[in-house]
Amino acid sequence: MSRDRIREQTTRNYNKLLGVEIKGIGSYLPEKVLKNSDLEKMMDTSDEWITSRTGIKARHVASDEQATSDLGAEAALNAINDAGLIPEDIDLIILATATPDHFISASASIIQHKIKAGECACYDIAAGCSGFVYGIVIGAQYVQNGKFDNVLVIGSETLSRFLNWDDRNSAVLFGDGAGAVVLSKSSDPKRGFLNFCITSNPDGGEHLTLPAGGSACFTSAETVNSKKHTVHMNGKEVFKFATTWGTNVAAALVEGSLEGINDGISYFIPHQANERINLSICKRLNLDSNKMLSNIATTGNTSSASIPLVMDQEIKKGTFKKGDSLLAVGFGAGLTAAGFIYRF
Ligand SMILES: CC(C)(COP(=O)(O)OP(=O)(O)OC[C@H]1O[C@@H](n2cnc3c(N)ncnc32)[C@H](O)[C@@H]1OP(=O)(O)O)[C@@H](O)C(=O)NCCC(=O)NCCS
Repeated sequence: MSRDRIREQTTRNYNKLLGVEIKGIGSYLPEKVLKNSDLEKMMDTSDEWITSRTGIKARHVASDEQATSDLGAEAALNAINDAGLIPEDIDLIILATATPDHFISASASIIQHKIKAGECACYDIAAGCSGFVYGIVIGAQYVQNGKFDNVLVIGSETLSRFLNWDDRNSAVLFGDGAGAVVLSKSSDPKRGFLNFCITSNPDGGEHLTLPAGGSACFTSAETVNSKKHTVHMNGKEVFKFATTWGTNVAAALVEGSLEGINDGISYFIPHQANERINLSICKRLNLDSNKMLSNIATTGNTSSASIPLVMDQEIKKGTFKKGDSLLAVGFGAGLTAAGFIYRF
């Protein structure tokens, strides 16, 4: 990979989005919980295997009536309320998702309708599990350049719909959920996004795909019978990608912004795919793993929802203090990687 390209970005992006803050945050997890012990009854697996290989103990699963837009709408309303705003105040809705309600139209527009937002811009972005960070970087620029006052960025997924429940290699890893933030100008110019980076590996996309249903492989009886409408993953290759690119993005962000990693970074929220991936990134960065915040044990991998879910849970706990620096890094299908440093 080209580390220089990432460093170029973090050198250029330093301080550019400072002053754009997270004005409100919210999340939503469906009620139904599927524990590892439940999966033991559905396939040849064990709590011991899943816990030791991934750190996951349970995940939430949407009800049959809930689509990605329903989860996203709940998180969005919580974030708007937390910001002290009403849905009509939102100028732009960006939804990051790998599991939209439909191909046509954008689920962001469906959320706009469900939350009773006014006339505003809406679109979806597909950047895999990095999608929420991509959405933040896109949305914050509209706020920074004065085009919009309040941008809603949502990560929402119903991965349980797109899993092959006969494939123990992938089915045990994922869960459903949503997280959202409202981005606005801060009254404190020192608060906000200190640095950011978004990138994608031109190779390796075939290691994490949902092969059928699109223009390259349209749905047919054959694609359904062979389960090509479900997630296909080469776990070992994705693991290698996540540890190397996750580390390199994080390292470039720190080098481009701060004096040293342990002095500069107060907390680290990596995408919640696998606890082993995340501990490996900490080790490669020489970052104290006590600074890492995680909820993977109870949520599994919720793709684009994972980072805002952890952020919301930790903000509600009162974890972050004024002046703290949060490093967040996402990686996933594409294969994409992305990160930001946020100063509270
Ligand atoms: C999927 C993953 C947990 C597998 O862990 P691993 O240590 O690489 O495990 P292996 O692939 O070596 O599999 C070891 C054995 O466990 C078996 N196994 C796989 N899934 C299992 C399960 N759910 N329960 C029990 N055994 C399982 C495999 O079949 C294999 O058996 P074999 O040696 O008889 O063939 C790991 O590769 C991973 O997390 N990859 C990244 C996935 C990811 O994060 N994707 C999303 C990114 S956004």
